[in-house]
Amino acid sequence: MMSPLHAVIVACPAQGHVNPLMNLAELLAMRGFFITFVTTEWMDQRLLKAASKDAAARDREIQGRGFKFRFLAIPDGLPPEHGRTSEIGELLLALQSLGPALESVLSVADESVPPITCIITDSYLSCTAEVAKNLGVPRVVFWTTCTAYAIILKNAHFLLSQGHIPVKEEDLKSKEKLITCLPGKIPPVRPTDIVSFFREKHISEIIYTAYLYESRFQNIADYVLVNTFEELEGGKETQMGLSVNGCPALAIGPVSLPNFLQGRNSMYSMWEEDKTCLQWLDAQPQGSVLYVSFGSIAIKSEGQLHELALGLEACGYPFLWVLRSDIAEGKSLDLPEGFKDRTKDRALIVSWTNQLKVLSHPSIGGFLTHSGWNSTLEAVSMGIPMIGWPYFGDQFLNCRFVKDVWNVGLDFEGVDVDEFKLVTKDIVESTIRSIMESSIRMKLHENVVQLKDASHKAMMEGGTSYTNLNTFVQDMKKIAKSRV
Ligand code: UDX
Repeated sequence: MMSPLHAVIVACPAQGHVNPLMNLAELLAMRGFFITFVTTEWMDQRLLKAASKDAAARDREIQGRGFKFRFLAIPDGLPPEHGRTSEIGELLLALQSLGPALESVLSVADESVPPITCIITDSYLSCTAEVAKNLGVPRVVFWTTCTAYAIILKNAHFLLSQGHIPVKEEDLKSKEKLITCLPGKIPPVRPTDIVSFFREKHISEIIYTAYLYESRFQNIADYVLVNTFEELEGGKETQMGLSVNGCPALAIGPVSLPNFLQGRNSMYSMWEEDKTCLQWLDAQPQGSVLYVSFGSIAIKSEGQLHELALGLEACGYPFLWVLRSDIAEGKSLDLPEGFKDRTKDRALIVSWTNQLKVLSHPSIGGFLTHSGWNSTLEAVSMGIPMIGWPYFGDQFLNCRFVKDVWNVGLDFEGVDVDEFKLVTKDIVESTIRSIMESSIRMKLHENVVQLKDASHKAMMEGGTSYTNLNTFVQDMKKIAKSRV
């Protein structure tokens, strides 16, 4: 008899990566896979602390759901006080050296663990290429970003050879320049859409080099999976732009949706969630609240956050604002004097939410977001129009596609060229008004609800993402059989 399929899932130690990979792990566990979920010790501890659980309680909980599942954590080699996600370049360098620790932990003999069928690796973990090769198993590259961005990153060396990288200042400002030489059926790309770490100005040498390095290993794959859905990104041909030597490349998202829709936990957070915000939302009129959150990494200057606060005050709408303790360039924010008092009847400020629960609440009418891919996909799948305010990486492309390609949101003019451009309180106010009440809102809302329906269909039995995930499972079964 064949032993169960065994996927080793290796996640980058960051919020926007662990969460989709854990949801994917559960989707595969539901399909009978034995799962080994690997991340760093630092991340493992953060997740346990935020959930107020110890490792044994977590194991009991996941096994109680009938899953065959184990968690492994490996050291990242950084000192305990290191900021990790606030020092991305150094973190990426440290992750490049995880291979030996990963291989060693996977090689410990354990009769209760079936032979490894495949390694599903976060697309930013070059170290898994050597491990998969040494263990003789397929390397499945999982993208936590949209397909168009993944295609740009995978082709970074080609873009470099064509002179599109490093992105020049004058190209950023050009409204006409389009890049059409990339594979896959993606819309023409603008210089501002290219990974922001590849901009000539503001380049951090360490991140620039690390991203180019990772790009080489994104071209070593036996299978590619993307957390998106075909209806959003132009069908199967688009994902095939990520294929390596003709290997399958499939859209299987939004991966957190099945857990969410079936009332299970769909959020693995690094911070403790504030539960009071849902009761507060219950007391607000339908569609009246603006949700404001900038994900897990983005920061802003205190001056900028004050303009935002004053804009939120001036617009007059209820708002729920996630203010992480490091949001003001690493520090907590001192709000403008009297702001809390003046807005207390219609504002709630919290340090972390369960974002999917918030976005699905009937009182939410709009989302001011940093345009991280998870946040974008979550807003789309909950039918909420967005104002995009990108900070780095893929967020510029996500924000532009939200505005120009999918027509489900707005942005602040000029931020795509200069992420440090001050957005004044007047601009904040008028843009919020547009997303919450204008005739523009009606169209954006209509479009996003269509995409919401499409995303739900994609994840339901017979839907595109559901079927693609089953195809992946069948393909892994064939591989396992051929080895018996
Ligand atoms: C990063 C990148 O910035 C992002 O662009 C990339 O695609 C993935 O990695 P992050 O900046 O954290 O992630 O943004 P995002 O992708 O939006 O992920 C944030 C996650 O945190 C989302 O799943 C969101 O639901 C969750 N979140 C955020 C909460 O659960 N509660 C909050 O209060 C805020």
